[in-house]
Amino acid sequence: MAEFPLTSKPMLLMSGSANRPLAEEVAHLLDSKLCKVTLKRFADGEIFVKIDENVRGRDVYILQSTNPPAENLLELLILMDAARRASAARITAVIPYFGYARQDRKDQPRVAISAKLMANMVSTAGADRVLAIDFHQHQLQGFFDLPVDHLYAAPVFVQHYRQKQLEDVVVVAPDVGSAKMARGFAKRLNGSLAIIDKRRTGPNVAEVVNVVGDVVGKNCILADDMIDTGGTMAEAVFALKELGAKDVYICATHALLSGPAVERLSAAPVTEVAVTNTIALPLDRHFPALKILSVAGLLAKAIGYTNSDQSVSALFD
Ligand code: R5P
Repeated sequence: MAEFPLTSKPMLLMSGSANRPLAEEVAHLLDSKLCKVTLKRFADGEIFVKIDENVRGRDVYILQSTNPPAENLLELLILMDAARRASAARITAVIPYFGYARQDRKDQPRVAISAKLMANMVSTAGADRVLAIDFHQHQLQGFFDLPVDHLYAAPVFVQHYRQKQLEDVVVVAPDVGSAKMARGFAKRLNGSLAIIDKRRTGPNVAEVVNVVGDVVGKNCILADDMIDTGGTMAEAVFALKELGAKDVYICATHALLSGPAVERLSAAPVTEVAVTNTIALPLDRHFPALKILSVAGLLAKAIGYTNSDQSVSALFD
């Protein structure tokens, strides 16, 4: 039996094609089944969507990460449009990984703020609320003029590392931007904190300039929100090892693992690379040190609490 009472707005969970295994896991935990949806392509690749069940008056949750290709985002938008036109009572966009979020300010002339554009599109397509995990910047919540439940994958990682019973733990932020996340981890794992001064010498090219904090002889856990090409993390692992760290672990919520990431991380002296399943990773991007942890329990609870109008922040108490 599900632990969440059904309200007057019976819940309906549907999935795009970006990460169906995660959606199925969430549905299972909610004692539910995914709503039947037809997702097809026209000959030119254009997306066709049809919801095959009655959604009138229902509390609809659409789970779709918006990692590349851009069709993932389009599918989410078109699914929401279909649900809205079919008279769903309330639509929640469940976006485990919110892509295009790195461009969140105009830091050079003539660049876009894609994170704001994405938020506008999600609202325009019909979302009444958004449920997402580890935004690239927490303040992206304010880019939406809708209620946003911003979940942290931290409890999933903290539980994972507590089971390992590591001693002398230092949580290392691979750059200044991830220091806040790392500080939270360090507190929960009773560890200390170190911060890497990282410079970018070009897009996706990272260089470690300095490590602030004591890592000698310690078990280091590098924590970030995402691994893209793996440059940041691989450089950080080598730098920590050179400074005399004991074992180095990596954790990151969103495993984009694009380009040379698998090669770089496989070549680095890292004990384990823990990521979550917010992004569905094809088997050819799995490697021996990779450990995938599930956020399905977190999402199922957040959806259950939302559906029954309970506090979602209680998840993190
Ligand atoms: C930077 O702000 C992010 O938190 C990540 O450190 C970065 O996006 C990772 O990119 P890559 O894996 O390509 O170094």
